[in-house]
Amino acid sequence: MAFYSNYKNVLVDMEDGITTVTLNRPEKRNAMSPELEEEMLDCILNLEGDRDTHVLILTGAGSAWCAGMDLDLFFRELEGNPENAVKHVRAEWAGHQWKWHRLYNFPKPTIAMVNGYCFGGAFTQLVACDFAIAADSAVFGLSEVNWGVIPGGLVSKAMNMAVNYRDALYYSITGKPFKGPEAARMGLINESVPDDKLREEVMNLARHLEALNPEAVRATKQAIKATRDMTVDQSHEYLIAKNGQLAHRDAEGGYSQGISKFIDSKSYRPGFEAYPRDKVNG
Ligand code: COA
Repeated sequence: MAFYSNYKNVLVDMEDGITTVTLNRPEKRNAMSPELEEEMLDCILNLEGDRDTHVLILTGAGSAWCAGMDLDLFFRELEGNPENAVKHVRAEWAGHQWKWHRLYNFPKPTIAMVNGYCFGGAFTQLVACDFAIAADSAVFGLSEVNWGVIPGGLVSKAMNMAVNYRDALYYSITGKPFKGPEAARMGLINESVPDDKLREEVMNLARHLEALNPEAVRATKQAIKATRDMTVDQSHEYLIAKNGQLAHRDAEGGYSQGISKFIDSKSYRPGFEAYPRDKVNG
């Protein structure tokens, strides 16, 4: 039986190396309940090691991508109730793990396919994904100020990492909603596309990523993320070591393959075309 067959709040679809994970509480605009947090952690952990998953797409069922934390089930029911203290701690831990640590460090490329509303706590997994493409009509909002709380969890940090200082302050403090094109302008997402093109554009990117050397993609992702918080000297050392690790891990020998195709057979020029990779395992 597939690991996801018993989930109540999460759908998983796997096809040709591309796995789509859908938050599935459309009647609550995919707000994150404690149960959803636990299922998502289980799901992401399983997919990390899943050999058939080469690219991960994260999306939402219905009109929302994710309306943030479930204000009723997560906050009102769990907070301040000593009987639910353990459940609260567990749910917070599960949420923090999947939304940031597991997703940000996921060993394969991840794409947020933002089909609709994206609010509050959902900004954490939005920024944790490597790529984000939204429908033009998708509505984003840091609504926390309206509830008398701050963009907590990791939302404020995620905003600071993804967008410039002025936009981070403006949208966090005012709580004003904005749409896909504005999210693209500020660099919160890569691209905003017409609603009816969303799936197609995301699949184009997913297929491109799926065709690349997985070890080179993994190491490149780690290189960009790890060096964000390093000094120049630390980065230099780290990147030399990372390249060594990549050469060791890469069963395809992507480096010698690529150089040979360019220098010896002259069958490939990176400026003109995608790399015609010789896969090791088909
Ligand atoms: N927590 C709990 N329930 C939520 C929710 C949330 N974050 N977001 C939506 N819901 C629930 C609504 O209470 C409603 O439940 P009901 O049918 O039992 O009354 C249901 O989802 C549908 O919401 P509704 O507001 O009727 O849908 P809409 O399509 O008109 O509007 C939103 C969608 C997302 C704009 C609106 O629901 C909203 O503003 N939600 C709050 C988002 C937010 O501030 N999130 C930050 C939390 S940190």
